[in-house]
Amino acid sequence: MKITVVGSGYVGLVTGACFADLGNDVFCVDNDKAKIASLKKGIMPIFEPGLEEMVLRNYKAGRLKFTTDIKTAAKKSTVIFIAVGTPPKPSGEPDLSSIEAVTRQVASVLDSSYKIIVEKSTVPVETGEWVKYTLSINSKKKANFDVASNPEFLREGSAINDFMHPDRIVLGVESRSAKETLLALFEPFKAPVIVTDIKSAELIKHASNSFLAAKISFINAIANICDKTGADVTKVAEGMGMDKRIGKSFLNAGAGWGGFCFPKDMLAFIHISEKLGYDFKFLKEAYNINEEQKKIVIEKIRSSLWNFHGKTVAVLGLAFKPNTDDIRLAVSLDIIDMLLKEGAKIKVYDPKAMKKAKEALDSSVVLCKDAYDAAKGSDCLLVLTEWPEFTELDFGKLKKLLRLPIVMDARNMYDPAVLKKLGFKYTGIGRR
Ligand code: UDX
Repeated sequence: MKITVVGSGYVGLVTGACFADLGNDVFCVDNDKAKIASLKKGIMPIFEPGLEEMVLRNYKAGRLKFTTDIKTAAKKSTVIFIAVGTPPKPSGEPDLSSIEAVTRQVASVLDSSYKIIVEKSTVPVETGEWVKYTLSINSKKKANFDVASNPEFLREGSAINDFMHPDRIVLGVESRSAKETLLALFEPFKAPVIVTDIKSAELIKHASNSFLAAKISFINAIANICDKTGADVTKVAEGMGMDKRIGKSFLNAGAGWGGFCFPKDMLAFIHISEKLGYDFKFLKEAYNINEEQKKIVIEKIRSSLWNFHGKTVAVLGLAFKPNTDDIRLAVSLDIIDMLLKEGAKIKVYDPKAMKKAKEALDSSVVLCKDAYDAAKGSDCLLVLTEWPEFTELDFGKLKKLLRLPIVMDARNMYDPAVLKKLGFKYTGIGRR
């Protein structure tokens, strides 16, 4: 099938590469000329395991093309996915101006040959109606099109696998032709498909993301009860997760959730609900718990260091989660900011995010070449991302390098008993 994917960010690039890998002819479009030029040279704008190989393979085979020319690409395609960014405005409301701009450009090439315009970006419920309206008023009379919604559930770090092996495929459609065309396109995935109306499809995405974020906030609240009672949150989570109705995933207590999806989608959903006349207090509280969690990490460090002034904290892990270099809305940024305000000095190391860290962090933050370099002369080791390589650290060596043997394990990566035996003052989240 001939496909255009507009927006070559995380979702767009992965969508384009995967569809091409399945044998479709795909145009990946972006209005960022530099990004498109780099992609043509095989340079990825993001780090995502397996993406570079897949892009290169399909680009060389001629199935994947990169262009800034949205109109030509759309004209040649049957299915046009819109995967552009919907960044938050200061109010939390998502900015849908890129979606509108793309829609208007697509509208100008619509004619009697049938096309489906599919929302892939995370958008508020009822955006589909706006897209349809915009296409109608900006296109010729004979324009033959449908609008559909196909929300994406991929996670950074495992995006290709999530795209190729989804738990479910959600198709929000309004016509038989849209349903049949999209079912044919998604047939090779051999995954369960739920076909519904467009509004329900849009809501499935926001409801799923906010439910997962709330699940993490729930276990973080339980962790706080564990801290007060001496119970172990990892055991509580294990016991809860064995109940199939609850499930064990997304029950890892820690420093809170971050990244470019959960915080943004949560705020957007709260905002949309308010606009629709519903005060979604449940989500507001889940969001507040997440904000509080970062302060709890600071208080836990304070209980070992007393004053921050003149002390150095070695931060291990900046990416909002392992296997990505993405630090957008990462918990690490807020925590580092709070520590700096308290007067602490900061040294940081992350296996993949150092380049982005250099651009984002205060110039006083010392960028280190590895965990040992960060630990050298520091008063506390603070782990904020559970990178697999951090499980292999030589704590004997770290203890010699640190000024004080203090570990704040904000992702519950280590066995407290082992570190205590080595002579560390260990603090985790919801366990001792
Ligand atoms: C999320 C959704 O999982 C995905 O379906 C959607 O398409 C996009 O948003 P992503 O943001 O890539 O994906 O990351 P995810 O793995 O969901 O983690 C989000 C945040 O939650 C991270 O900061 C992570 O550290 C945190 N988290 C996750 C926890 O604190 N505890 C957990 O148990 C799981």
